[in-house]
Amino acid sequence: MPLVKINDLSKTFHTANGDVHALKNIDLSIEQGDIFGIIGLSGAGKSTLVRCINFLEIPTEGTVYFEGKDLKSLTHKELLKARQSMGMIFQSFNLLEQRTAIKNVCFPLEIAGVNKKDAEKRARELLKIVELEDREKSYPSQLSGGQKQRVAIARALSTNPKVLLCDEATSALDPNTTRSILALLKEINETMGVTVIIITHEMSVIEQICNKVAVIDKSRIVEVGSVKDIFANPKSDMAKQLIIPQNIVHSLENYSTMRIIFDGLSSYEPVIANLIMECRVPANIMYANTKDVNGVAAGEMIIQIPVDSVDKVSGYFERIGIKYKEEM
Ligand SMILES: Nc1ncnc2c1ncn2[C@@H]1O[C@H](COP(=O)(O)OP(=O)(O)OP(=O)(O)O)[C@@H](O)[C@H]1O
Ligand SMILES: [Mg+2]
Repeated sequence: MPLVKINDLSKTFHTANGDVHALKNIDLSIEQGDIFGIIGLSGAGKSTLVRCINFLEIPTEGTVYFEGKDLKSLTHKELLKARQSMGMIFQSFNLLEQRTAIKNVCFPLEIAGVNKKDAEKRARELLKIVELEDREKSYPSQLSGGQKQRVAIARALSTNPKVLLCDEATSALDPNTTRSILALLKEINETMGVTVIIITHEMSVIEQICNKVAVIDKSRIVEVGSVKDIFANPKSDMAKQLIIPQNIVHSLENYSTMRIIFDGLSSYEPVIANLIMECRVPANIMYANTKDVNGVAAGEMIIQIPVDSVDKVSGYFERIGIKYKEEM
């Protein structure tokens, strides 16, 4: 049974300027243990979708099942209980400025009726997990953005949720802090078994930690699947736009553009060097977004090669087992 299942969900807002169809016919299945990314441009409907998952927004049509239960069918009390199983973090952290770090983490526990001593004990454990045990008495104004998000994560985990909903949780952070927060989310997923749903407009976020991704474009899901498959072979225009850099200078006359996908099979340097030496092809590297992790390459590269060498180069990539795609 999927942890979250969405069937034919639509959401329309009625505004003074007319109806806004924020979501149309959404179907989605999120399994226990997934780190599930939802990506799309601004206004695509991502935040509305995540708010429908915990029923902060009531869908106009369709059904949300959480642990097999139709959220529509729950009493108010049952819904509040279900929401305790769904932690949420935001771009703007949403901490209570008047409360210290530990008091912020205690807050949901107080609401749930946990006594002060037990709440503080649990909050301390959580602050340790997010590596802020030495800052429990700090107020939000005394913490950096990354530290604030760590407090928010600890707070979201306080009620032992099954799933963590993250709406642009790293969008206000610099690249290094983003990486450390994403690494923390991954660790929480792996060690605590918490399913993570990540809303973002950045493909690099999806690439770093998600196993599955849904691409949302103008209120609809246009593509969904494993991150590996979609990166290797994006089918929808939106996925292509998000994955393939758009600003590559097109094309030299009589040259073809090829996208090479590295998915951990080999290091990229010998691949290109050998391509040039073995095939005797003058390959231009137009773009590279590759990471070398312990000699293993991940990412992609876009090269241009003379049209008449496409067969030779394709043969070479096939022989060494590298994924490639002719772009144009
Ligand atoms: N409460 C609301 N009332 C009216 N319209 C709304 C409401 N909430 C969202 N919308 C509209 O629904 C559409 C989707 O908004 P949403 O916030 O879900 O987009 P998003 O993908 O999260 O965008 P961003 O990346 O900028 O956060 C937008 O056109 C927005 O104006
Ligand atoms: Mg949003």
